[in-house]
Amino acid sequence: MEKIATPALPFLQEAAGLMAERTGGKPPVALVRTYGCQQNVADGETVKGILAQMGFAFTDDPEQADFILFNTCAVREHAEDRVYGNLGALKNVKRRKPSLLIAVCGCMTEQQQVAEKIKKSFPFVDIVFGTRAIHRLPEMLFSVLSESRRVFLSGQGDRPFSEGLPIRRDSAFRAWVPVMAGCDNFCSYCIVPYVRGREKSRRPEDILRECRELVNAGYREITLLGQNVNSYGKGLAEPVNFSQLLRSIDALEGDFRLRFMTSHPKDATPELFDTMAASRHIPHNIHLPFQSGNDRVLRAMNRKYDRAQYLELICYARSVMPDVSFTSDVIVGFPGETYEEFQDTLTLIQAVDFTNLFTFIYSPREGTVAAGMEDPVTHEEKTRWFAELLRVQEEIAARRGQGMVGAQERVLVEGRDPKTGLLSGRTGGGLVVLFAGGDEWIGQFAQTEILEARGLQLWGRQI
Ligand code: SAH
Ligand code: SF4
Ligand code: F3S
Repeated sequence: MEKIATPALPFLQEAAGLMAERTGGKPPVALVRTYGCQQNVADGETVKGILAQMGFAFTDDPEQADFILFNTCAVREHAEDRVYGNLGALKNVKRRKPSLLIAVCGCMTEQQQVAEKIKKSFPFVDIVFGTRAIHRLPEMLFSVLSESRRVFLSGQGDRPFSEGLPIRRDSAFRAWVPVMAGCDNFCSYCIVPYVRGREKSRRPEDILRECRELVNAGYREITLLGQNVNSYGKGLAEPVNFSQLLRSIDALEGDFRLRFMTSHPKDATPELFDTMAASRHIPHNIHLPFQSGNDRVLRAMNRKYDRAQYLELICYARSVMPDVSFTSDVIVGFPGETYEEFQDTLTLIQAVDFTNLFTFIYSPREGTVAAGMEDPVTHEEKTRWFAELLRVQEEIAARRGQGMVGAQERVLVEGRDPKTGLLSGRTGGGLVVLFAGGDEWIGQFAQTEILEARGLQLWGRQI
């Protein structure tokens, strides 16, 4: 567990004192549940870091908790519905235990209508705060505890980074390192620029220091985070681009993997792929969301690249890294997309031969440009297209899996597969290999031989 020595945050001691009083001197217990992307997971680790500094212990059981915090995601309606459902279920928990404190933070709360809804429909929620107010958590807790009033603090704050804030990492060997916050791209379907604010890059020396500390502490995998890491460096005092940042981290001595996400195709450069090809620590695998294979739809999405440019990038990456593999995000049923246009997405998937796809049915987000577009295709119809896409990708996955039988793969062992009890490791390309072995391998690299593939699930043995 890495800890950065920091001066205490305002009201941290005071809030910790009141909290301890409330729990009768026993260490207070918190449940922090995070929804959404890795950026949110990283924020959740900072929330837990602050709570740990206040003396909190942690649980997954709502019944055990003195403080429950939902760190929410707004990217699709389904993500929000889950939060509302789970929040509703807390009503009874609070009835049984009136001293329970409840907070909602993260991307959902940055939408005014959502903050209002929580205020009105969930009166048992004590604190609501946005993605840029995390550092003010002790102060908010202090207000609630000392004045018995609800606190709402979203849509403001200017502290996008956890610089100087404590982090309580979920893993002892895999770490998230934010390199930038926010997004300037305004893809027409996407809520992220509205809830995370404008793009801001973190100083390279701060990133490098954090990575060095992680490597020295024995971390085996570092994933750099940003909504569009390829535009890293804009607005920094000293100009530096993402490839330069990658090279400086790659130069650190140690046995670790360096990953990054997400790369926007419009800003992916030959230099990025050259950097990956020449690196010691970066696996030859890249997540490069294409969203749609049709040029009209890409224009309507405001993605700023076309199908040919995307395929050119793939081609260049393969020319400098013949073993490179790709994953991607796809949206099915963007407003006005026709079945013929959707077919272009399928042919692009076949042309690139992705190892894995994260596939989404379009979900309208209030306030975005696409939410105002005509959307004549029914959800039922979109669900059929979606199933068609999954079938295409399953075939590709099955073939790629078979192609790996007999190969030797170095994997980072992440834990045990709950179903089989076997060790579960991940290849540089991000595929899971199951194999027999002792617990001492968890958090270590192991050399395996692939014996069998079922879809993209690989079985192997250690060599
Ligand atoms: N910054 C990243 C993506 C972040 S959101 C990028 O540009 O690649 C993760 C994924 O969610 C997106 O890539 C997109 O495929 C999906 N997504 C975003 N908004 C969506 C919406 N309104 N409906 C359906 N899927 C959406
Ligand atoms: Fe959303 Fe586009 Fe920004 Fe990604 S790049 S977060 S899809 S607006
Ligand atoms: Fe969701 Fe916010 Fe991430 S909307 S996808 S948690 S940036």
